[in-house]
Amino acid sequence: MQISVTKRGGTSRIVVNGFIPVIDFGFKGRSVGLSEGMTTECGVLSFEENGAGITVRKELEHLEHVVGFGEKAFELERKRVILRMWNNDPGGYRRGDDPLYASIPFFISVRDRAAGYFINSVASTTFDVGVSEYDSILVRVPEKGLEMYVFEAGTVAGVVEQFTGLTGMPFMPPLWALGHQVSRFSYYPEESVMNIAGEYLKTVPVSALYLDIDYMDGYKLFTWNSRIFGDPPRMIRELHGMGIRTIAIMDPGLKAEQGYSNFESGIGSYVETANRELYLGKVWPGLCAFPDFFDGRAVDNWKFMIRKFIGENGLDGLWLDMNEPSVFTEGKTIASDATHLVKGMRMRHDSVHNAYAYLEVRATYEAMKDVLDEPFILSRSGYAGIQKYAALWTGDSVSSWDDLRLQIPMVLSLGISGIPMAGCDVGGFIGRTEPELIARYYQMAAFFPVFRNHKAKDGNDQEIFMLPDRFSRMAADAVAARYEFMPFIYSLAHEAHVRGHPIVRPLFYEFQSDRATYSINDQYMLGTSVLYAPILDRGAKERDVYLPAGDWFSLGDGIEHRGPAWVSKDGMPAFVRKGSVIPLKDGRFIAYGKGKFTMFDGSEFTISSGPDWFRSERPVYKGSVVFLGVEREKGEVEGRSVTGRSGRNRSEFAGRKFSHIRLR
Ligand code: GLC
Repeated sequence: MQISVTKRGGTSRIVVNGFIPVIDFGFKGRSVGLSEGMTTECGVLSFEENGAGITVRKELEHLEHVVGFGEKAFELERKRVILRMWNNDPGGYRRGDDPLYASIPFFISVRDRAAGYFINSVASTTFDVGVSEYDSILVRVPEKGLEMYVFEAGTVAGVVEQFTGLTGMPFMPPLWALGHQVSRFSYYPEESVMNIAGEYLKTVPVSALYLDIDYMDGYKLFTWNSRIFGDPPRMIRELHGMGIRTIAIMDPGLKAEQGYSNFESGIGSYVETANRELYLGKVWPGLCAFPDFFDGRAVDNWKFMIRKFIGENGLDGLWLDMNEPSVFTEGKTIASDATHLVKGMRMRHDSVHNAYAYLEVRATYEAMKDVLDEPFILSRSGYAGIQKYAALWTGDSVSSWDDLRLQIPMVLSLGISGIPMAGCDVGGFIGRTEPELIARYYQMAAFFPVFRNHKAKDGNDQEIFMLPDRFSRMAADAVAARYEFMPFIYSLAHEAHVRGHPIVRPLFYEFQSDRATYSINDQYMLGTSVLYAPILDRGAKERDVYLPAGDWFSLGDGIEHRGPAWVSKDGMPAFVRKGSVIPLKDGRFIAYGKGKFTMFDGSEFTISSGPDWFRSERPVYKGSVVFLGVEREKGEVEGRSVTGRSGRNRSEFAGRKFSHIRLR
């Protein structure tokens, strides 16, 4: 076994047996050499060859926390589980089901200090986290060599910065993509789409509407069913007139049908069988061919079709589904021995499987960049680095009170795995949901970066305006709270874009040395400044909330608390951390604490007058104590403007309000 190590800053790259990764992140460092093992901040790493592949062993301590691994249907703490990395359409999932749609072979270990570990393999790897061997993490890679990275930053946040520094900074979402989005499998015809949009707007703001597969003619990509959508560009213009963006679904497979020009144009650049024939797999339209996104010719052809389709119709975004890729066969995906043209060589599907969605999404993003100022993609599948191009949602969950709980650790784990733009189907996708549960989903996900209601065909209608009054009011108030916080969420999306930090964070991200935080799966932080603890139990009116060390200001009742403490609250329990200024709608702020405040870009301003926190006549949440941010015009906040400045992206932000402010 041959092992070499190169290093730059706190990041080390380890290459075993000269392995060349399928997705190369272009790391450059200086060589430091290595023999059998390597001592890292969180234990010794060693490598073993075993007939079919390589096993990486990392020591695991009893008090060590292990978090990350992207989209997994488990709690935040991911010890004592075996996780497989294999992009998979499970056809609906519940807690404990594995694998799911996206694979991020990356985890963070936390002892006194934190370190990150990333196995850059797009084949099926498994992570056995202290199951087979109580005191080891075993990573099994089915290849003769491997590339892996170790990030020794000391803090969880520092590891995430290094990991996104390597795999790429998250795309900056358009402001509208952070709004309330609505979807259904499927809204049609055109008249229903317009009626539903209209009904929604009577109750809540809607920023985007999704068209699911039925808009197509026989599920053929880049076509419309003209019987139900007579004039798509006109419909999209009308939706724009209502302030609603339109996003269409796109699957990777093209129906293999003579005379279907989009299929015919790709011939010669599709995935092939082991015998070099066209590989066909059944999906919605029937037998489909799959663009080989490893092959530049397939990429060019796809980009051409994407640009044309977006341009001709005036679409604002795309929803890339079924891109594991999902095939309706026993193996659930493309045959293992099918082949791709990778860097001029034919490679088996199973050795490159987890890269398929990444390459599809990259090609789509690049094409959209040519025709849209701010492209938006919502993808189901992905790999490490997908954050450069797309947001992810957690796929076909089964509506239940347990799923409501499960979605928090799932979305937070995506965030600490480099993917800040994440969300779930609000209301749950599969099954029938009671109104109380839908309202609680709205509250739970109120600050999730992607905030979209979506439901299966044979599930009940779960539009807010369909709910009984009491519950539609609860859901509408959750949407209102989100819009109140939009400038803050947008500023966090910008922080994610330049630093890689998640928008919503597990409590341990901010309070790494507080052991209690690793088992808090039902609360989350919005940036460094707001702690949110939604009510998740049927019939419950209040809940207990854990507040880590520090001073907290409860937004619901205006009470100050000193953590660490457990407190009981009702409504939508949210707390501001001392030393924060939270930018709200209409230029208002919540400011808690006095002194010098520092924006994350280093600029500063001072609050020197007024009480410790600022209250107004205007509500943040309906029916609760009311707050006002500090209006700068009145001089209560002195110093720098907090409007629209950010070195690198000045023009992108011109005229928009955003800020992220924290006491030094
Ligand atoms: C998949 C998607 C789901 C979508 C359906 C039909 O199940 O995950 O969101 O509605 O396909 O396109």
